[in-house]
Amino acid sequence: MPIPATQFIWFNGKLVAWEKATVHVLSHALHYGSSVFEGVRAYETQHGPAIFRLHDHTRRLFDSAKIYRMPMPFSVEQLNDACREVVAVNGLARGAYIRPVAFRGYGEIGVTPKNEPPTEVAVAAWEWGKYLGQDSAEEGVDVCVSSWNRVAPNTLPALAKAGGNYLSSQLIGLEARRLGFAEGIGLAADGTVSEGSGENIFVVKDGVLMTPALVHSVLHGITRDTVMRLARARGIEVRECAIPREFLYLVDEAFFTGTAVEITPIKSVDRIAVGTGKRGPVTAALQSAFFGLFSGQTADQWGWLDPVDMSQARIAVAQ
Ligand SMILES: Cc1ncc(COP(=O)(O)O)c(C=O)c1O
Repeated sequence: MPIPATQFIWFNGKLVAWEKATVHVLSHALHYGSSVFEGVRAYETQHGPAIFRLHDHTRRLFDSAKIYRMPMPFSVEQLNDACREVVAVNGLARGAYIRPVAFRGYGEIGVTPKNEPPTEVAVAAWEWGKYLGQDSAEEGVDVCVSSWNRVAPNTLPALAKAGGNYLSSQLIGLEARRLGFAEGIGLAADGTVSEGSGENIFVVKDGVLMTPALVHSVLHGITRDTVMRLARARGIEVRECAIPREFLYLVDEAFFTGTAVEITPIKSVDRIAVGTGKRGPVTAALQSAFFGLFSGQTADQWGWLDPVDMSQARIAVAQ
């Protein structure tokens, strides 16, 4: 299904009609992968829609741009406002997936031209359900370890959420789907577990929660950080450590985290059941803590919810 269109996209500082937010075919990013982006979710809460950890996502966007020496023509606060604005003007009161993207645009040809192509910035938002299928949050997903490794250290920086990195993700995801799995897990250059094609991975063994450390070529996921904090606040021991591939076959529970997948249980790896092959108690407890942030059952002691003033929706429609 194509992306369900909304009315407006914020593009280089202005709201433009969805179908008019287009770029030139000779834009630098299209040829050389020079884009950085974010995936952010807004959730419906008792007090109206709120964007989850907006500031952290925008900061990561700027960090990705910094790694690639991409000048950003807007401030963090301007982009935070743009994210709130696209939710409001498109009337996305029931929640949304928000996609900020910055990229090297149309200018001189060449990988590193003398004159830097202009950085273009856009923010779109639309309604989006469960990334790995409607029942995945309860039922879990069957996954495989990919024959493709993740990017090695000091090749493409894993801490930058850059368009080019997602060529590695495409190889992993395409192979997994071709073989009948919902998702694939990439190993790091040293053969230990890294992450899924678009999500971080956690395992639970004897009550201890483990996830690969940042040195294992993972994106420093915001949901990963959220889960670690929620777990620690509940007295669960959390370790960031190297995880051997075969440990995935021996753990009691495993799950993916990410803005798109939220917290999705893994029921088998390489056709070997994880634990009982069903969502385990630690995964269920962390899911309920996570979704409780939006229903109000989990206190937002960190100030992670950024409310959206929906009155802007009326202003845009009146224009
Ligand atoms: C490769 C990769 N790893 C991990 C994640 C999870 O990150 P986050 O929780 O910030 O969405 C994502 C999604 O953005 C991703 O693309």
